[in-house]
Amino acid sequence: MRKFFLLSAATLLSAVVSAQTVARMDDLKPEQKSMAVSLKLTGELSTTGNSDYRQLRDLCFQMRSVDLSEAQSTAIPNNAFHSRHQLEQITLPTAAKSIGSQAFFACDKLGKITIPAGVETIGAAAFSGCTALEEITIKGAPQIAEYAFARLEGLKTVRVDSKVPPKADATAFYGINRQNVKLIVPTGSEKLYRKAAGWSLFFNDAKEKYQVSYPPYCLVPFPAELRLQKGADLKVKTAWNIIAADGLSNEAEQARRVLTERIGNIVNSRQRGTQITLALDNSLSDDEAYTLAINSKGVTAKGKTARGVFYALMTLDQLLRGNGSTECADAIPALFISDKPRTHVRELMVDPARTFIPFEDLKAFVPEMARYKLNAMHLHLVDDQAWRIEIKKYPQLTAQASSRWGQDDIQMPYKGYYTQEQMRELVKLGAEYHVDIVPEIEMPGHEVAAISVFPELTCHQRQVPVRTTCGVSNELLCPGNDFTYEFLGNVFKEIVDIFPSKYIHLGGDEAGNPALDCWTDCPKCQALKQKLGIKTTDRSENWRLQGYLFDRMIELLRDKYGKTPMFWYESDFKEIQPGCVTFAWRSGQTQEALDAAVRNNARIMLCPGEHCYFDYPMSKGDMPEVNWGMPATTLKDAYSLDPAWGMNEKFEQNNLFGVAGTLWSECIPTVERIYYQAYPRAIALAEAGWTKQQNRSWEGFLTRLKPTMKDMMRRGITCSLEVNGEK
Ligand code: ACM
Ligand code: ZN
Repeated sequence: MRKFFLLSAATLLSAVVSAQTVARMDDLKPEQKSMAVSLKLTGELSTTGNSDYRQLRDLCFQMRSVDLSEAQSTAIPNNAFHSRHQLEQITLPTAAKSIGSQAFFACDKLGKITIPAGVETIGAAAFSGCTALEEITIKGAPQIAEYAFARLEGLKTVRVDSKVPPKADATAFYGINRQNVKLIVPTGSEKLYRKAAGWSLFFNDAKEKYQVSYPPYCLVPFPAELRLQKGADLKVKTAWNIIAADGLSNEAEQARRVLTERIGNIVNSRQRGTQITLALDNSLSDDEAYTLAINSKGVTAKGKTARGVFYALMTLDQLLRGNGSTECADAIPALFISDKPRTHVRELMVDPARTFIPFEDLKAFVPEMARYKLNAMHLHLVDDQAWRIEIKKYPQLTAQASSRWGQDDIQMPYKGYYTQEQMRELVKLGAEYHVDIVPEIEMPGHEVAAISVFPELTCHQRQVPVRTTCGVSNELLCPGNDFTYEFLGNVFKEIVDIFPSKYIHLGGDEAGNPALDCWTDCPKCQALKQKLGIKTTDRSENWRLQGYLFDRMIELLRDKYGKTPMFWYESDFKEIQPGCVTFAWRSGQTQEALDAAVRNNARIMLCPGEHCYFDYPMSKGDMPEVNWGMPATTLKDAYSLDPAWGMNEKFEQNNLFGVAGTLWSECIPTVERIYYQAYPRAIALAEAGWTKQQNRSWEGFLTRLKPTMKDMMRRGITCSLEVNGEK
């Protein structure tokens, strides 16, 4: 593998001083892009496809300083510099007219920005999370969208040249620390700014209208039954007492967290305050079922299990959030909710193998998922590109196969792995939020990282490096080799010890022809075929070998460790072993997978590519702009998933396991962008998985999504704004 090339501080400094000047990104070689620290572009900059902006953002991972002052560019595209954590300095094009939404989201080293006089619009969350931004100079009078300059903890000076305050959304500067910030406006204009929306925040707390939340517009996923009731509203901005039944100490803690995050100072005394009672109710019909009753005196949350009580609290959190324009509404109307899910597993799959997700960031996914009653996080821990989980028996795996240089055209280091201790901590956190952590170890394909360390796992002991491109490798584990079983057995011994989940995913995807051909001329594989009496030569023999490998691993996991094995469905499997869960993932082939599940009396997870592949762009032109020809999975596509795929009630009861969204990360190079790909589609998935069809509507979902997305923006979570995305 290539050595990581990092520039020394002195080299960096001199590079910042002397910017390299070119007309366009195509004038630079790939290695010049990956080494670029300071660039000046002077040409006409493209904005679609593999554009100048896409290349600046994705191919220049060390870029600290960009000068576009002379570039011919009027529109800074949406997400132009999304989560570029190295960017310290940028001069915008003098000709700029618009700055797209989230264009500089979380550029948290950016120190200053000058908005040129010709800029007419600054998009939503354009500079949100630029926590080091100290100085903003606005030369003209652009219209400033919601949360455009939100969460700027380090802000010291805002200088606006316009005598008339630019039109700014009330949330444009959300979260500024007024004590530390000086707003400098033309002499004589201060009075106007004091009164203007968005700007008054610099002078005093915005006077917010008394807000009563309107439950039919708040809740996502929508509950099974929601009844507004007569009687006075519950005023929420008061002291609260939390009364919890035995066995609900975790939920009491969660209640305290929710109330504190929304309302602030919570007094917990038995003498005074609004009461929230957490209780178990055995009469409820489902382990995840709950009821939530609210009146002017307080809240009663009941669940059949602690999990149900937790979901009542997640619902309460959304009621407190109200229309999303502030942390918390003032009151909730009297109501009764009775709720339970349609499917019991609502999963997101993350892929730290292709792009490593630092541990703290991985943990942060859990509470966000739980808000929407998603209850399983599937960890794709190994693949051709990396091995990301510590295995004590084989420390070489992480020592040698957890770092590489590059992913396709993105030339940067991809590095990291999780210790077993960290995974145990994640499992514990998951339990607090009722999110099951499901590990996946791939076989027989997508295993090049392991093969790079142990060539003896393959048929021909080939030395191969970890893969640095997307796609499918022709190197597979050899099913005729005893070491393959010894290796997998030792790996799973540790995996089952770390992860208490009932489920373990074995991969199984994309090992098909021609990759399986590598088994044809292997003496060990031939001997195994002979032993098993496999005589065909039409390639079905290789599928039967894969079946043999799977059978052995399934027996180990199911019979020795009491686990439920899972795998990605491939039509050539034909048989699904008893007690397994298979995943329908291939676009256009869902029915085939469902028929196989019914035929084999197996359970099946619905994650068909057309609805559930969230690594695909949410709209044509949305991130990731460059890929291997992924179609768009629009928000409406995600929402329109029918978990039962038009099958009957019997299928739903006997076979349907749940719904899952995937976040393969070949084209997702930053943590923030994983959120961007996940949301809001994961919320659509959550509703598809939770809410019965008769209570769902696309229009209703969009209405309820609005406050949800406002709340995300307020909390500094990035998500795609292309809610009406096009194919
Ligand atoms: C997959 O997308 N290869 C399961
Ligand atoms: Zn072999």
